[in-house]
Amino acid sequence: MENVKRTKIKELLNSEPGAQVLAKGWVRTKRGNKQVKFIALNDGSTINNIQVVANAELFDEELLKRITTGASLAVKGTLAESIGSGQAVEIQATEIEVLGDCDPMRFPLQKKDTSLEYLRSVAHMRLRTNTFGAVLRIRNQMAYAIHTFFNQKGFVYLHTPIITQSDAEGAGDMFHVTTMDLKNIPLDKKGEVDFSKDFFGKKTSLTVSGQLEGELGATAVGEIYTFGPTFRAENSNTPRHLAEFWMIEPEMAFYDIQDDMDLAEEFVKYLVQWALDNCMDDLKFLCEKYDEELIDRMRSVVGINFERVTYTRAVQILEEAIANGTVFEYPVQWGTDFQSEHERYLVEKYFGKPVILIDFPKDIKAFYMKQNEDGRTVRGMDVLFPKIGEIIGGSEREASLEKLEKRIEELGMSRKNLEWYIDTRRYGSVPHSGFGLGFERLLLFVTGMSNIRDVIPFPRTPKNAEF
Ligand code: 4AD
Ligand code: MG
Repeated sequence: MENVKRTKIKELLNSEPGAQVLAKGWVRTKRGNKQVKFIALNDGSTINNIQVVANAELFDEELLKRITTGASLAVKGTLAESIGSGQAVEIQATEIEVLGDCDPMRFPLQKKDTSLEYLRSVAHMRLRTNTFGAVLRIRNQMAYAIHTFFNQKGFVYLHTPIITQSDAEGAGDMFHVTTMDLKNIPLDKKGEVDFSKDFFGKKTSLTVSGQLEGELGATAVGEIYTFGPTFRAENSNTPRHLAEFWMIEPEMAFYDIQDDMDLAEEFVKYLVQWALDNCMDDLKFLCEKYDEELIDRMRSVVGINFERVTYTRAVQILEEAIANGTVFEYPVQWGTDFQSEHERYLVEKYFGKPVILIDFPKDIKAFYMKQNEDGRTVRGMDVLFPKIGEIIGGSEREASLEKLEKRIEELGMSRKNLEWYIDTRRYGSVPHSGFGLGFERLLLFVTGMSNIRDVIPFPRTPKNAEF
């Protein structure tokens, strides 16, 4: 069979009929009658299947029986014009080899229940479905687009550590990293855990953000971005939170908050446009199956200027909405964080487009954000998207050594683990800014999926680290 080279199905579907071809893939469905079988074959190169036509006279009955949903095949034959399969071409099979059988009684995707919830319980197999094939291809395209965007702009891809001793966001929701024997933890004289005996000789965790190291890179080579996994042990079981998610964090020397917002807006529009340009087959499938407004919604954000509004103004808008009868589950009060219901009201109801919130109360934001003259707010920015809420968080950074040190003290943070970071302000400090895009939040937007567990191949959430 190998005297013909295998061609991927995506390419076959775009080829002229006539050639001898070899296709390999997994059976999606088989139908037909005694004389002829129609097999839909998929190899993951595209959402579309190629139809294999097997004339029963040419094949062993036993072989045809083994062709079940999920089985893997190599098929040789003639690429022929297709009448009625919905595709231009099909394969008139001359040889079929079953590479791997698939027991129809046990195959988890054979079940009637194809709900996303059920598929999460068989996440190791769900990648074989059309839905996850589409999600994985779009995810891959978005990763490629991210590297392309920053490379075109001359940013340096910086690899920041996954194991760290610093809590960048000051939120404290970190996973410890240790090699200590949990049944026999060494204690010091005061009865505290003696981390000097641990692998790194100090307390370490999985990173919640590469930003602090990113700032070291930006103040050296000008413009960097990170793109890697981040970990947060917050116990929030929501459709928008993962314990392990991927984040893209650009950091730029000499950028102020306006430059930062401009870049963030250009960046997400570029990514959404890339998906429209390069993933249309998959988008159409997802649109039909899950979210009929998906493509329209995507188009609507690339052709519009995002609304830029201060936190304080947004509070007023929400208060007016409440006065006019809108009911929110959580209260709105200057000084507290918005919930996603508030964010979505601003984006979907009030402005009808993506919103960039700026100038937050300093007490709800991290220590490193640049302080405004009013003494109450900081130069942070959040980009809010329809259906998602916050997709990006960022800020101009506090460049003044004195102000930064004062803030660290006010918050009662331990300076010991931050001296290396503070050095950026001691030696040639410059105005600089950055932001973080949650990769899976972006994917929610460009796939139309409504649960973040369905846009990452192997989700990690509270009580869930299987597969
Ligand atoms: O707003 P966050 O916490 O900001 C930072 O971590 C900054 N250090 C970024 C920076 O300025 N360099 O997180 C940034 C983004 C959020 O807007 C959200 O999209 C995503 O990361 N994110 C999560 N995504 C999935 N699951 C979680 N638990 C997330 N937490 C944040
Ligand atoms: Mg945030």
